[in-house]
Amino acid sequence: MANDNIILVVIIVFFFCFCQFTTTSFSLAYPLVPAIYTFGDSLVDVGNNNYLLFSLVKANFPHNGIDFPTKKPTGRFCNGKNAVDLLAEKVGLPYSPPYLSTVFKLEQRNKHFMTGVNFASGGSGILNQTNQKNSLSLTKQVNSFIKVHKALNKQLGPSGLNQHISKSLFVIVTGSNDIFSYFGSAELRNKTTPSQYINSMVATFKGQVERLYNLGALRFVIVGIGVIGCTPSQRKSNKAEQCNEEVNSVAIKYNEALTSTLKSLKVEQKELNYSYFDGYSVMQNAIQKPATYGLFEIKAACCGLGKLKADVYCLPVSTVCSNRSSHLFWDASHPTETAHRIFVDYIFGGPLRFTFPLNVKQLIGT
Ligand SMILES: *[C@@H]1O[C@H](CO)[C@@H](O)[C@H](O)[C@H]1NC(C)=O
Ligand SMILES: *[C@@H]1O[C@H](CO)[C@@H](O)[C@H](O)[C@H]1NC(C)=O
Ligand SMILES: *[C@@H]1O[C@H](CO)[C@@H](O)[C@H](O)[C@H]1NC(C)=O
Ligand SMILES: *[C@@H]1O[C@H](CO)[C@@H](O)[C@H](O)[C@H]1NC(C)=O
Repeated sequence: MANDNIILVVIIVFFFCFCQFTTTSFSLAYPLVPAIYTFGDSLVDVGNNNYLLFSLVKANFPHNGIDFPTKKPTGRFCNGKNAVDLLAEKVGLPYSPPYLSTVFKLEQRNKHFMTGVNFASGGSGILNQTNQKNSLSLTKQVNSFIKVHKALNKQLGPSGLNQHISKSLFVIVTGSNDIFSYFGSAELRNKTTPSQYINSMVATFKGQVERLYNLGALRFVIVGIGVIGCTPSQRKSNKAEQCNEEVNSVAIKYNEALTSTLKSLKVEQKELNYSYFDGYSVMQNAIQKPATYGLFEIKAACCGLGKLKADVYCLPVSTVCSNRSSHLFWDASHPTETAHRIFVDYIFGGPLRFTFPLNVKQLIGT
């Protein structure tokens, strides 16, 4: 009896150590970059909003996380891993924790700061006025990075810090909520034309990239806005379940303005390099030819209730599809892990047509 227990304990300890060993050796032997720092909205939030008492934009309840390694909700607006988790896997880094979680884990702070932190906040946008539901705007997210930068400076010293920051990836995935806010507000549309609005989005975006550049960031991964007029929540308000083409056309114009601004930024700041992912085109291809991407259902959400499962959001009372890997959308407005994986394969190694002027592999020189 006692012997059995000892054997069991030995097996458990061995197994535990083995797991620890393999995970750590994976993340230590193969990071292609020192760290990933992520900024953006719910597409890449890994749980910051869990810590925002007054935020209404949350995903820390079932059925979110149903396919995450822990099978538990984490605050990701997804059935499993999102794009930055998958990017971390590609470069051999651990998943970045939400920045706000590090505030409560002082002993682990420095370790996390070294391999990356995620500042993204669901419901947030580029413009201050977009963050009405207490989400953290892009500007506030960059303000938080300044705190991380100071802590790293203490740890590494100025020249170590410079080396670390210049080689790390700065991922920015945002803008969709600004466009949804624009279409959601008659007042905003009355006083601002789409192109004025897009110009202020792009100018603010550029300003935040410049703040990061001034702190030493040189490698940016920037994701354009997707086909957001075709989310289940946009389609459900159309009788024939068609996409909202007005929303799509503003998304396209924003992406054009953003890419031309990035080009001129590269001219102004020569050492800066970036990888821009044209998520719009890839997503549109997936919608037009789902089978090519291994997808089957590109209109309805997987988790939700009602028309296109978008009348009721993905809540514990909602139903969940069994075939998640064949769905483009997890809930009324967010992609499945499968869709994130399709995007990240392009972001990391994609052809110049979709990922330019460099893909991430080229950006990090591998
Ligand atoms: C946005 O908010 C920040 C504070 O979070 C402030 O510093 C900045 O000036 C604001 N920007 C505009 C355009 O109002
Ligand atoms: C927008 O403008 C129209 C006419 O120009 C006006 O009738 C309407 O009340 C305005 N709406 C808002 C919210 O300002
Ligand atoms: C599951 O997905 C596959 C491939 O995407 C598809 O062929 C199949 O019909 C789907 N099954 C169900 C029950 O939706
Ligand atoms: C980044 O930009 C600099 C300056 O233009 C260039 O010398 C360098 O080769 C670029 N890096 C990559 C990976 O292209």
